[in-house]
Amino acid sequence: MLSNQAAESGKRKSLHGHWSSRMAFVLAVTGSAVGLGNVWKFPYVAGQNGGGAFVIVYLLCVVLVGMPVMMSEILIGRRGRRNPVATMALLGEEEGSSKRWQWVGGMGVLAGIMILSFYSVIAGWTLAYIVKSATGVFTGADAATVGAQFDGFVGDWRAVAFCHTLFMGLTIFVVMRGVERGLEQAVRFMVPALLVLMLVLLGYSVTSGHFGEGLSFMFTPDFSKLSWDSVLAAMGQAFFTLSIGMGAIMAYGAYLPEETSIMGASGAVVTADTLIAILAGLVIFPLVFANGLDPADGPGLVFQTLPLALGQMPGGAFFSTLFFILLSFAAWTSALGLMEPAVAWVVERFSKTRAQAAIIIGGMIWLLGFGTVFSFNVLADVSFYKGTIFLNLDHLTNNIMLPLGGLFIAVFAGWIMCRNSTAEELGGAGFFYRIWRLLARFVVPVGILFVFLKAVGLLPDLS
Ligand code: PFF
Repeated sequence: MLSNQAAESGKRKSLHGHWSSRMAFVLAVTGSAVGLGNVWKFPYVAGQNGGGAFVIVYLLCVVLVGMPVMMSEILIGRRGRRNPVATMALLGEEEGSSKRWQWVGGMGVLAGIMILSFYSVIAGWTLAYIVKSATGVFTGADAATVGAQFDGFVGDWRAVAFCHTLFMGLTIFVVMRGVERGLEQAVRFMVPALLVLMLVLLGYSVTSGHFGEGLSFMFTPDFSKLSWDSVLAAMGQAFFTLSIGMGAIMAYGAYLPEETSIMGASGAVVTADTLIAILAGLVIFPLVFANGLDPADGPGLVFQTLPLALGQMPGGAFFSTLFFILLSFAAWTSALGLMEPAVAWVVERFSKTRAQAAIIIGGMIWLLGFGTVFSFNVLADVSFYKGTIFLNLDHLTNNIMLPLGGLFIAVFAGWIMCRNSTAEELGGAGFFYRIWRLLARFVVPVGILFVFLKAVGLLPDLS
């Protein structure tokens, strides 16, 4: 029999509607997870951090930290059925702790706003590259021309601002339409299509003649190249790519029907996300070596390797256009997840309609985005702490706020919520439940704290 408290939480309904099926939820979470993080960010961050050793640490973080945090977020979201701020406040009290847990939700809302402000700018680049590819700009172009195209484009703040505006407009449009009609429809085709295209591109990459080199760069670990800063970057990347640590998955979990298996859904999402990141690396790195480029080239890497390689092959303009269309879709479905915590919060807290909330939050993010727009041109020389405004936003959100959010979420699910509540959401206290609880209670908090302290140099080296 259900306890009173459980019976009450079982009756809760989300104000924003529910996913129409388990598949819809898995697609939406996958849509949020698979995005620029996999295809644009993973290869260049791996490249900047030495390749193989980074990839291994990243994979460890995905399995040991990412998966349990994702499950924690979904179970908290489904139990509270409100926006992340209200859910954390409600469950904090219900589980005999404090309403103050709402600050974890608040930090997530803020992280989503900050991330989308730069995410939208990069997504704007992908929109521009659809047009550039389709009009044959890259056909037969050499490395210098493709590089000059990229530098010329990001150096023109008006062009970048225009694309950023377009992307935010598209995002606000879908968020306004609501959970079932807007979010679900957008992801249904995108994820399978992206997977298929990556496989086609992989076929091309395998025949580029430098596949072995790419493979060994990605999978031969040289731990001497790994600093604690790169370990932090790998952990941050794991959080970013899985969309965890900021309440996005918690917000999506709030719309999840009671009977869906959280463990199964998380496993499916983590597998799909990791597969696409690895595929992206396997496509990009051989092309980097085949064209004498530098894997540590930074944010421009995908925007230079793929147009260059595809420009050389027959039908390249078509495939390049298709690639950037799919990448834009992937970014679009991720942007929805980034906005959802803030939008759900504004709807509930200030009694606004979804449309009003989407416009208010979207407008703020659009404005904040100019910090990143200018980071590649007029303010490119303004440098503090980690570098440009973009680099600071990126570092602060990925490497600090998301892991910190994940730490609190895991501690909440592992230590504050009672065993009955979590076991009930995770479908009983079986073997896998016990593993999850062990990870959430010990491995995640200790792991995150350890990496943080190491990265800021507060723990001495034992060797
Ligand atoms: N996971 C997305 C990506 O890899 O591109 C980024 C992201 C989306 C992060 C949604 C956080 C989020 F809530």
